[in-house]
Amino acid sequence: MLLSKYNTPVPRYTSYPPANYFHTYTNDAYRNAVEKSNAAADNHLSFYLHIPFCRHLCHYCGCNSYLMARPEVAEAYVDALHREIDLLLPLLHTDRRIAQIHYGGGSPTVLPLHHIRALNEHLLSAFATIEQPEIAIECHPAYLTADNWKELTRCGFNRYSIGVQDFNHTVLQTVNRRPSCLPMEEIFAILRDTDARINLDFLYGLPHQTVESFAESIAQAIALQPDRLVTFGYAHVPWVNKRQLILEKAGLPSNEEKNRIFAHTADMLQQAGYVRVGMDHFVRPDDELNVALQTGRLHRNFQGYCTRRTTAQVYAFGVTGISQLETAYAQNSKEIPEYIDTLNAGKLCIKKGYDLDRNEQLTREVIESLMCNYRINWSELSHRLHLTVAELKAATAYDEKKLRAFADDGLITYTDDTIVVTTEGAPFVRNVAASLDRLMQQPSDKTFSKPI
Ligand SMILES: C[S@@+](CC[C@H](N)C(=O)[O-])C[C@H]1O[C@@H](n2cnc3c(N)ncnc32)[C@H](O)[C@@H]1O
Ligand code: SF4
Repeated sequence: MLLSKYNTPVPRYTSYPPANYFHTYTNDAYRNAVEKSNAAADNHLSFYLHIPFCRHLCHYCGCNSYLMARPEVAEAYVDALHREIDLLLPLLHTDRRIAQIHYGGGSPTVLPLHHIRALNEHLLSAFATIEQPEIAIECHPAYLTADNWKELTRCGFNRYSIGVQDFNHTVLQTVNRRPSCLPMEEIFAILRDTDARINLDFLYGLPHQTVESFAESIAQAIALQPDRLVTFGYAHVPWVNKRQLILEKAGLPSNEEKNRIFAHTADMLQQAGYVRVGMDHFVRPDDELNVALQTGRLHRNFQGYCTRRTTAQVYAFGVTGISQLETAYAQNSKEIPEYIDTLNAGKLCIKKGYDLDRNEQLTREVIESLMCNYRINWSELSHRLHLTVAELKAATAYDEKKLRAFADDGLITYTDDTIVVTTEGAPFVRNVAASLDRLMQQPSDKTFSKPI
């Protein structure tokens, strides 16, 4: 009954407003938003660097990734990143501090690692950091030798996300992915020597995966005792990435099998002492993400879950990078040659973006609290935002009748001061969020996916 009523297209709310509301945006508009960002309450700096290259392309990939081109293209790309940093830094107040640096891709570690070190030095020499900033990188382990891992530890990272996806070689071969070059135990020993935190990424819903086969991989992962384990559900979007059709031919597990794989994985991880945070993160109970969840202060940006401590306004560099500022989003060009040429000409390469008005900024806070923490505490949130509960509710599409309907169906419980999503309601948290979203109360030409 719930499924037929609520499995309707709604935004995923990885940002508010959703990225399909972004429109043409200029470098000047971005510069204005950056200048305003200096005065924002959330004053810390978060830098995201997108490295779009990969040595091989996995058939399942839904990320912005391209085959590693000639080495001179990668060199020109890194030069362009430095130029983009040089154009941005003078706009930022020098007393601001870095809370987070994140390298994503693609596979950032396909670059010669001295480039990564130089990029880190470029940013870290311009600002002080908060105590224990998060300096993180996504790593594809197939191409990294022991010397490479050691070199990475000298670049200043304190968190590594290692893309395992699955330890099963048949699964990896089918999706055109190479296994790790080194045994994981060896990688962990090198990284743990520096006190770094390690996340392992897994992907379920691929050909040849079964409850039993995936359980073997998860058991191997548990034995390694990673700090966090992330289990992504495979998103099949062949209209975005045609290579995914190869996986259809190889035979994708049914939705029911996929759900069984996730349920069994979640059981295993919970029995091993991990707690679930958000849709797909499993962390140790004392992990700051869990502490943030317990205190209603879990947060999310395009790089994933974070806490109020490490969250800051995000300034993105590189193709497709999206900056997330207090009053705006701004996204760079998706074209590598255009990005390089424009930066070589001394200009930023912003293409799309969105300016948020005050109501939208407040709605973003409300929807984010609901999506991350599965609850809203109106008085706590309004206190943090320095306004009254009535003013905060008025900024959204708050409608008590809609909340009552959700409550009657068992999706939420609510009072004047709280909304709490129930276990049964968790799959439909997006529907509850959409009821608070003024944009969703108007007819629109945007398309969204269904919650299930
Ligand atoms: C940019 S990739 C990680 C870095 C590195 N390129 C690697 O593959 O190890 C980020 C993560 O996105 C996830 N991912 C990629 N394609 C996906 C898809 N179609 N559906 C769900 N998750 C996906 C993978 O689990 C991957 O680890
Ligand atoms: S999953 Fe990682 S390595 Fe594979 S194509 Fe995507 S970004 Fe590249």
